[in-house]
Amino acid sequence: MRRSPDDEAPYAAGFRSTPREVADVALPVRGTLPDWLSGVLLRVAPALFEVGEQRYAHWFDGLARLHRFAFADGRVTYRSRFLRSRAYEEATRAGRIVHAEFATDPCRSLFGRVQAILEPTTTDNAVVSVNRIGGDVVALTETRLPVRFDPDTLETLGIHDFSTFVEGSVSTAHPHHDGASAYTYLISFGRRSAYHVHAVDHAGVERELARIPVERPSYMHSFGMSARRLILAEFPFVVNPLRLYLSGVPFIRNYRWDPTRGTTLTALDKETGAQVGRWSAPPLFAFHHVNAVEREDALEVDLVAYDDASVIDALYLARLRGSEPVRAVGRLVRLTLPAGGGDVTVRSLSDTPIELPRIDYPRHQGRPYRWVWGNGQAGADFLDSIVKIDLAGDPATNARVWREDGAWPGEPVLVRRPGSEAEDDGVLLSVVLDARAERSYLLVLDAATLEEIARAEAPEIVTFGFHGNFLGTPEDGPLHA
Ligand code: CO
Repeated sequence: MRRSPDDEAPYAAGFRSTPREVADVALPVRGTLPDWLSGVLLRVAPALFEVGEQRYAHWFDGLARLHRFAFADGRVTYRSRFLRSRAYEEATRAGRIVHAEFATDPCRSLFGRVQAILEPTTTDNAVVSVNRIGGDVVALTETRLPVRFDPDTLETLGIHDFSTFVEGSVSTAHPHHDGASAYTYLISFGRRSAYHVHAVDHAGVERELARIPVERPSYMHSFGMSARRLILAEFPFVVNPLRLYLSGVPFIRNYRWDPTRGTTLTALDKETGAQVGRWSAPPLFAFHHVNAVEREDALEVDLVAYDDASVIDALYLARLRGSEPVRAVGRLVRLTLPAGGGDVTVRSLSDTPIELPRIDYPRHQGRPYRWVWGNGQAGADFLDSIVKIDLAGDPATNARVWREDGAWPGEPVLVRRPGSEAEDDGVLLSVVLDARAERSYLLVLDAATLEEIARAEAPEIVTFGFHGNFLGTPEDGPLHA
């Protein structure tokens, strides 16, 4: 449904700056929290969308604030603090935007622009996700500057330094983990650009697994990992590296959609970094890989696909807050990469669109799996629901949906019930904006049925963000890897 041009979006309160920090407060709970639920949900989200007279342009740009929901004995407490990144400190001190972000450049001279995102002055505004690298709990954005923080106090501890031999300035906010290491990549731009794929073991020892030269680097938000492979999907949204230095426009605006290139998938051996396969697929775009599984005759790569990269434009703040609906979901698809090469097939896994996908990562990442959770968009406006997709079901009918009028939920994080066998035995934790009450609440759903178990009302609006993780028992996943 079209709104009047003067109306702001019905969920626009989720894109309003929230400058006030919150010390530990107990949240009123409606319903009964599972007595086994013990640990903390850590999330990060943009929470300052302007500094002085200047505004950030894009959802990915606002200054990062950490949110912590701590569960114990059927109770939940909440704390929230800004990440004291250099980007935050310098901007708030100067009263203007100082560091270049994904789609925002500070006003600066041409010389300054050259340095903007590619040099050590690049942003550490780690607004995208919370994860672990080596021994550090970090907030991440897509630069080589993860920011360490204390998961209890949310105190900022400083940059997680990669070794100086690690080349590259742009990275992913979605590292992978297995029992041994974290895996990530960095991209170096120049006359000789390259993807540098890295492993960081739990003692913090780094190895460059592979260096893949590339003429026109692709914009990639995440990558795939199966039991033995790392998989890079290069979508045909690419940049001439020189443009990054010379164009004078913000980072992402230098990228061009060129469908004639198709999508290139490269599989690397996780141990040695050796290239074990390279495939061409039809042109598509994705932010999120969901999972990857090795079969006898093929490698299956599941991701949330778009026909092109225009979704990035849809997520400019002016559009998100405006009167036109924003479609922010893609299609869950499976790319089947034949062992030994050959044509890639792309198959839709569900008719229900999804974004911010989650799986039972600790037990099923890289392995056969059945369930995908995420946000859906049942109405026209924006992400408005939580969905659970059954990969064993008929794509026409394989989704279950939680939705409530006036509620705008964020990424649902799965917490498995300790000792449980079933992949969907546990709860989903999602921060939901109640637009009418102008507050957020933490929603606890049964991960199997999507029925509400409890909700805990936050004392404020928690702005819309992207990703979080649960820090509980060692079985809970990436933060413990
Ligand atoms: Co993401």
